[in-house]
Amino acid sequence: MSQSTVQPPLRTRVDLGAIAHNVSTIKDMVGPDVNLMAVVKADAYGHGALEVARAAERADAFGVATVAEALELREGGIGKPICAWIWNPEDDVSTPLAARVDLAIPSLRHLGVLIEAQVPARVYLKIETGLHRAGLDPAEWEEAFALARDAEHLEVLGLMSHLACADEPENDYTDFQAANFARALEQARAAGLECPVNHLCNTPGTFTRPDLRYEQVRVGLGIYGLEPIPGQDHGLIPAMTWAATTMAVKPIAAGEGTCYTMTWHAERDGYLANVPVGYADGLPRAFQGKLQVGIGGHLYPQVGRVCMDQIAVDLGDNPHGVRPGDEAIIFGGGGMSATELADAAGTINYEVICRPTGRTVRQYVGGTHA
Ligand SMILES: Cc1ncc(COP(=O)(O)O)c(C=O)c1O
Repeated sequence: MSQSTVQPPLRTRVDLGAIAHNVSTIKDMVGPDVNLMAVVKADAYGHGALEVARAAERADAFGVATVAEALELREGGIGKPICAWIWNPEDDVSTPLAARVDLAIPSLRHLGVLIEAQVPARVYLKIETGLHRAGLDPAEWEEAFALARDAEHLEVLGLMSHLACADEPENDYTDFQAANFARALEQARAAGLECPVNHLCNTPGTFTRPDLRYEQVRVGLGIYGLEPIPGQDHGLIPAMTWAATTMAVKPIAAGEGTCYTMTWHAERDGYLANVPVGYADGLPRAFQGKLQVGIGGHLYPQVGRVCMDQIAVDLGDNPHGVRPGDEAIIFGGGGMSATELADAAGTINYEVICRPTGRTVRQYVGGTHA
């Protein structure tokens, strides 16, 4: 498709209608008794946190990693509960608390800071159940539950923890973590904490373990329309397309090579398309030879080194008449899916959608983007 209007040379197209559809689909899946916390950390996995939060009309709450991410949403007018789970106990907590940001407490040190602050706060106690990343260790539960219970300015919403292997449904490590979580919840309630809202499940946990949804699920990947488990289909719509405008189509003769160190040579006379995306835009050099670029509904192999700003795409005899100005899809509709590219490159679709950066300009379609 030739570009009729002037476009930035490299862009992500984010379909806000797809986001709304995915949120709605997952909300229907979990039912009215389970809150959907839409995870919009890392700028909504590259989709734009504020725009995604606005489009995610049926989300009950938002989850982010850092306090800065939470404040960006609040300042953008998002009024629903926002939980941040990465914060530094040395930082001033008065700003996030004044902005009604719910904080997860991953250690006794974090808990101590919130107790000292004497400022009303809504918190989740983050429990170590087996991921061994951040969370209160079982040996700390008794002390943490008693301290939190006795701190009258703290409203403990519930417990949270994170699953390590939910994307492998056969892996019984999820049962091990689930048992630890249930034990922690029992202990917290026995200590006098009501814990009305607890959450353990990410997208794969939500999809495969209805028994572990508790009162809330924290869903990231699914709201962007991607499946965490190969072969599953929950009727989601991928929201992101990474596209560039073909800059040139050039002949190449048999035996000639392209890009740095000449790692590829044409086997026969043909054509190369020159596409303005490179490692400075988040396309790794390690993707060399794994990427098939979609142009006009056909896939063509990227060849030679991924350069800082450009790649070469082998059009062969150019049977479909690719021309300068044609849109080249790096992943998304009309090209490889993010999942196909991830599989080819030996990574995960989560990483692929977080890749576009550098000179990439984000554009929104399909929604009421304010
Ligand atoms: C603590 C926490 N909860 C939930 C999620 C969302 O995971 P997913 O994208 O698989 O839904 C993440 C993302 O990695 C996370 O770090």
